[in-house]
Amino acid sequence: MSKPEALTPDSIMQLGFGFWASKTLLSAVELRLFGLLSEAGPLDADQLRERLGLHPRGARDFFDALVALGMLDRTDGRYSNTPETDLFLDPAKPTYMGGIMEMSSVRLYPFWGSLTEALQTGQPQSEIKTGGDDFFETLYADPEKLAGFTAAMTGLSRAAGDAIAAKFRWRDYHTVIDIGCAQGAIPVAIATAHDHVTGGGFDLPPVEPIFNSYVAQHDLSDRLQFSPGNFFADPLPTADVLVMGHILHDWDLEEKRLLLQKAYDALPTGGALIVYEALIDDDRRYNAFGLLMSLNMLIEGPGGFDYTGADCRGWMADAGFSNSYVEHLAGPDSMVVGIK
Ligand SMILES: C[S@@+](CC[C@H](N)C(=O)[O-])C[C@H]1O[C@@H](n2cnc3c(N)ncnc32)[C@H](O)[C@@H]1O
Repeated sequence: MSKPEALTPDSIMQLGFGFWASKTLLSAVELRLFGLLSEAGPLDADQLRERLGLHPRGARDFFDALVALGMLDRTDGRYSNTPETDLFLDPAKPTYMGGIMEMSSVRLYPFWGSLTEALQTGQPQSEIKTGGDDFFETLYADPEKLAGFTAAMTGLSRAAGDAIAAKFRWRDYHTVIDIGCAQGAIPVAIATAHDHVTGGGFDLPPVEPIFNSYVAQHDLSDRLQFSPGNFFADPLPTADVLVMGHILHDWDLEEKRLLLQKAYDALPTGGALIVYEALIDDDRRYNAFGLLMSLNMLIEGPGGFDYTGADCRGWMADAGFSNSYVEHLAGPDSMVVGIK
């Protein structure tokens, strides 16, 4: 055990004030700072401040804080993106993942301010606290939020999509439908990597134009189609492979089991269900992002929670899947593959 005099509060301080750093990055994304620097090249503090429309008081500290946090470079007083922020936070690039950061800045950040209340009451703190009971109905009633949320999902899932395209044995399968597809990042990643695969996405009707436009941007409209529907009220479409990404964690245990059963029923014998999430490690100790994602589900809706690979394999076995395995994808994400 460490001697008391060797202990420091550094890690506590760093975590306790982590929201300062986090919100500084989120505001930079919200202000499109990285897109501006990518387009306009290195700018000095005055040029950057004027182009972003910021008040002089905090601007220099804001830019230099981003330098200190490793999100900007500064040479001879001129600011530029780092290689990472240029690749992932410039909205003009197809690799942009800022949608999830924009959503974090505008929605999740204020909602997380009520985490203590959520822990005490078990009640969500998102739009449904003041709006309707149905999270997606409430969110999708506002077209800007619908577009923002689905783009955020692409930011969240892009790396997992590339990993699913690379790691799953697609040569054994020909069709795929992503259940709850949002913009369609996963079928687009799979179809881009595998010419023989066709299919599409299934989601609530308001998502259709958003899916169609994203798929058209990737020149895949001839191979990927949208099926509108409600996965609780309607049967699921069939395909060799069904995908559910960040779907099960939105719902309570009974709903999770129902969705797994519906996927099993829709698949042909030998078909596969790929469930991917920021899966919590079986020891519930290491994947902090997965555990915090589960708290985010507490904030977002009435019954959702994240789970371990072992949990999901157990539910899959109960639904009838003959075999299942867990494989890491990218960052905090892993997939659970169930074979019918
Ligand atoms: C958390 S998002 C996940 C999006 C995407 N799979 C991903 O991981 O990037 C949940 C998705 O499920 C869709 N969804 C929610 N309720 C649904 C329902 N009852 N029927 C069909 N889709 C639904 C939402 O529109 C949304 O696209």
